[in-house]
Amino acid sequence: MTITEHPETTPKWWKEATIYQIYPASFKDSNNDGWGDLKGITSKLQYLKDLGVDAVWVCPFYDSPQQDMGYDIANYEKVWPTYGTNEECFELINKTHELGMKFITDLVINHCSADHEWFKESRSSKTNPKRDWFFWRPPKGYDSEGRPIPPNNWKSFFGGPAWSFDETTNEFFLRLFASRQPDLNWENDECRKAIYESAIGYWLDHGVDGFRIDTAGLYSKRPGMPDSPIFDLNSDLQHPNWGSHNGPRIHEFHKEIRRFIVDRVKDGREIMTVGEVAHGNDNALYTSASRGEMSEVFSFRHVDTGASEFFRYNAVPFTLKEWKQAIADNFLFINGTDTWSTIYLENHDQPRSITRFGDDSPKYRILSGKLLAMLECSLTGTLYLYQGQEIGQINFKDWPIEKYEDVDVRTNYNIIKEKHGENSNEMQKFYEGIALLSRDHARTPMQWSAETPNAGFCAPDAQPWYFLNESYKNGINVADELDNKDSVLNFWKKAMKARKENKNVMVYGYDFEFIDLDSDKLFSFTKQFEDKTLFAAFNFSGDMVDVKSPKEGASLSLILGNYDDVDASSTVLRPWEGRLYYVQ
Ligand code: NOJ
Repeated sequence: MTITEHPETTPKWWKEATIYQIYPASFKDSNNDGWGDLKGITSKLQYLKDLGVDAVWVCPFYDSPQQDMGYDIANYEKVWPTYGTNEECFELINKTHELGMKFITDLVINHCSADHEWFKESRSSKTNPKRDWFFWRPPKGYDSEGRPIPPNNWKSFFGGPAWSFDETTNEFFLRLFASRQPDLNWENDECRKAIYESAIGYWLDHGVDGFRIDTAGLYSKRPGMPDSPIFDLNSDLQHPNWGSHNGPRIHEFHKEIRRFIVDRVKDGREIMTVGEVAHGNDNALYTSASRGEMSEVFSFRHVDTGASEFFRYNAVPFTLKEWKQAIADNFLFINGTDTWSTIYLENHDQPRSITRFGDDSPKYRILSGKLLAMLECSLTGTLYLYQGQEIGQINFKDWPIEKYEDVDVRTNYNIIKEKHGENSNEMQKFYEGIALLSRDHARTPMQWSAETPNAGFCAPDAQPWYFLNESYKNGINVADELDNKDSVLNFWKKAMKARKENKNVMVYGYDFEFIDLDSDKLFSFTKQFEDKTLFAAFNFSGDMVDVKSPKEGASLSLILGNYDDVDASSTVLRPWEGRLYYVQ
């Protein structure tokens, strides 16, 4: 195929950018109160520029009671005081721009916090004008002990029922996530307008270049919100996706958001949006340029590989083949269309990728970390890098349950404890699951140096809001990684540079084809751009593995390898070795 048959290759800043994700609580504390803050981020912008990233996405920094680490917003137009002031945020946006980078903010509009004024008004009485801005329903009935029964059998994404009972009016409100994270009613026109104005308009007026749209597939609930069919036979409550994901009006809502953005921005800025849509087959609809919804989406299949579909902390075995196919799911749909997608292995909801998909033992951490960097840099789609990933961070080890912080872990721990007891097999399995899969692995403070006890995240005598991963003592920190020419960090720089220099085929390459898809050790493929062919061969094992040539007698020229003494002509890959070539 020729490039004219590939509208996905139309260049855009947001397709080529490498976007670095910042979790503000844990990035850099500038005032030693133990919490990261906006000034801390500003102080590290030059580090990010030097790393070679083009944009930052900062997770929610808005006013919030922090039941879900800022994804429960009490005021879209105000910075959480612990993170700083609105002026400090505008300064951060300006400084980001001065360094030639873009600024992307998080847009959390499926729900807000129970502390938001809109919800306070709504809950105050059944006749309040904002009552219909949220989903209020009477109990289905009362159980034998007089406790109200939720209106339907939907389960919260964090476990337990998706409804909270409110005694002010003796009704339940829908909340697909935490108990104080009420879902906004997108069917209500006034409510939608208020969301756009407050959460989007305000920040567009203050210069942001894009939005990462939280839970972007959930706004259109199944009409009437009926009971879900039973998918999980072992549970009374059923996964909320059936009633909430990719609902009947979801594309209409996204078109409306895009129109709002286009109408609002008068200075020619091209605003990008990236929607978190998890599962489903709507990615091409969401991201088709001609439809005018979102620029790109995050889907979850590859990060959900190895977790049970009914419970994310139930770790299950998986094959490399399954994972390869799941990764390809991210971008295969864009081939020959006007759509686009993303490449990521980590974010604030995922554990560390080296532990999950590489080998985090001292012997192979660096090599497998570099291999994952190469894999990501060679795939088509917008590349996302999560804080700490660049230093080859790994999961923390052997932490007792008391050290886990995430509301998702805490809620499920309490449910399992109540149902099965603390010493049950179920609890044991849960402990194994969270050791591998908890979101907390991504949320420990950033490790800037080997300084004890706070790794340069805050002063040694300050008390960080969350425990540090002990790995900072073993060379996994920015200062040590910068010093070591063979570090994961220095390799990320090299790999991102190679991606930029060869962006046609690395960022925009099309007609992706696996080589030896069935192999459980080799991850290998080709893709094209005009007359160029990229050939990648990655060994996902500690064994020696044969390279399979992409075509008989092909001559290969090396672009990048993760071994120092790479032998480009060798037909054998050493443990966790990867090579990228042009095929001549
Ligand atoms: C997805 C966010 O990434 C996650 O951190 C949050 O808990 C849920 N949405 C609810 O907002």
